[in-house]
Amino acid sequence: MTALTLSSSSAATLRADVVVIGIAKSGKPNGTPSVAPGAEAVEKAFGGKLGATLETLGASGGEGEVTKLPAPDGLKAPVVLAVGLGDAPADGASFSPESLRRAAGSAARALTGTAKAGFALPLTDGAESVAAVAEGALLGAYTFRAYRSKGKDKGKNGAKDSGAPLAEIAVLGAKSRDKQHKAAAERATVLAEEVARARDLINMPPNDLYPGTFAEQAKAAGKEFSVKVEVLDEKALAKGGYGGILGVGQGSQNPPRLVRLSYTHAKAAKTLALVGKGITYDSGGISLKPAGHNETMKCDMSGAAAVFSAVVAAARLGLKVNVTGWLALAENMPSGNATRPGDVLNMYNGTTVEVLNTDAEGRLVLADALTRACEESPDAVVDVATLTGAMVLALGNRIFGIMSNDEAFRAEIHETAEQAGEQAWQMPLPVELRKGMDSPVADIANMGERMGGGLVAGLFLKEFVSEGTPWAHLDIAGPAFNESGPFGYTPKGGTGSAVRTLVRLAERTADGALG
Ligand code: BES
Ligand code: MN
Ligand code: ZN
Repeated sequence: MTALTLSSSSAATLRADVVVIGIAKSGKPNGTPSVAPGAEAVEKAFGGKLGATLETLGASGGEGEVTKLPAPDGLKAPVVLAVGLGDAPADGASFSPESLRRAAGSAARALTGTAKAGFALPLTDGAESVAAVAEGALLGAYTFRAYRSKGKDKGKNGAKDSGAPLAEIAVLGAKSRDKQHKAAAERATVLAEEVARARDLINMPPNDLYPGTFAEQAKAAGKEFSVKVEVLDEKALAKGGYGGILGVGQGSQNPPRLVRLSYTHAKAAKTLALVGKGITYDSGGISLKPAGHNETMKCDMSGAAAVFSAVVAAARLGLKVNVTGWLALAENMPSGNATRPGDVLNMYNGTTVEVLNTDAEGRLVLADALTRACEESPDAVVDVATLTGAMVLALGNRIFGIMSNDEAFRAEIHETAEQAGEQAWQMPLPVELRKGMDSPVADIANMGERMGGGLVAGLFLKEFVSEGTPWAHLDIAGPAFNESGPFGYTPKGGTGSAVRTLVRLAERTADGALG
């Protein structure tokens, strides 16, 4: 993992391989980009010609743009990297935390193979800016190389590992003795490491990550960070009557698990329950997905990964709140033992479900976990799931949908996501879509109308949440896995979507949110 330091050295005297500076768009077409605050020492070394030099090199200051140039005399570091922050803020205003995170992330991504970089980005909002730069840089430095055979990333001379993540990030202009700056750096480190945990799990191939191995990872992390972990295996699930989780998992050689993680604080006033969809591979089951739709379905455990990481983060940050995480883990495979379209499952809460499509499996495992989570009477429940392709059609690849049985809680989650730097949008749960799931044989079917499929899935889940418990459902099917190129601090592959929102929600709950 990349190391983070706060440094009061000037960009001129810092011993590093690269100094990162920020530039913004001029506001005029083809204008000279403006150099953002924080880079004064670098500007001075360029004798006032930095903006013009960058313009000559074709730099505009646009978001995510990266320009490397040799450093002039007067800088200890041999290279300057100018990263675009996008539009300059209005007079007197600061760059938003998200602009800083994205710029720092783009710079860190461009610095794989580098040992040390100093980030001289604008810190005009004090600790908040330090937090944003640190978080963006650490998240952007992430790489997933566990499955590359050794040496493939080595440089030509064999000495330098060109694919290694940026090893050290120094945030320049921050004060290592300032309590708030220090706390910001520590929080950013925990957040980035826990987002990386989720990304690693998502990126891990499904031949290695299946319910049993996922549960083992939860146990190991629980030991390391004092989180209590209980695992229900297939026998315990059968004994407990978890028909949804068992029905989805029964076609696989790798049996399902339900994992309960619990972090408690002695002075906590509130308990938050988090439930994650953990389909370690979604083939669709007997309702098999065609080629073209199954290549990335290892990502179908992204919700469980987010919940796992968020509980561990809450523990590492010592938040004054109880957080219980539920990982509903199963592999959805076709076989002679698999659930058939037409089968009826007896769910954990006694409801019978006619399975019309075995590819609508997420709602089945989540339903059991939601009922189980509600038994402990938490103050609120949030589930996170790569649940429907319909949500991807509606909101695209960068925004997750929020559905809820409680207007105020839905707004609370939306605001929380915004604070965390994650894009989200509120979606309704229209009651008229419920009758589409009426079944001629069972209490409910696992499919309804095709139109509004994301909302239909949400309505199904709602049936398994206790009356009176504020509940929100985050459908992260779009942003969980990035199939196109990397951008800002978001890599290709697993993104760790929802981790930061869940951690921020735990913080807000510790600080008295949720009534
Ligand atoms: N895991 C998928 C949803 C998904 C789609 C996640 C794209 C990530 C990217 C889910 O289990 C699924 O297959 N949903 C079906 C439901 C349908 C059969 C009612 C879908 O959305 O097509
Ligand atoms: Mn499916
Ligand atoms: Zn699925």
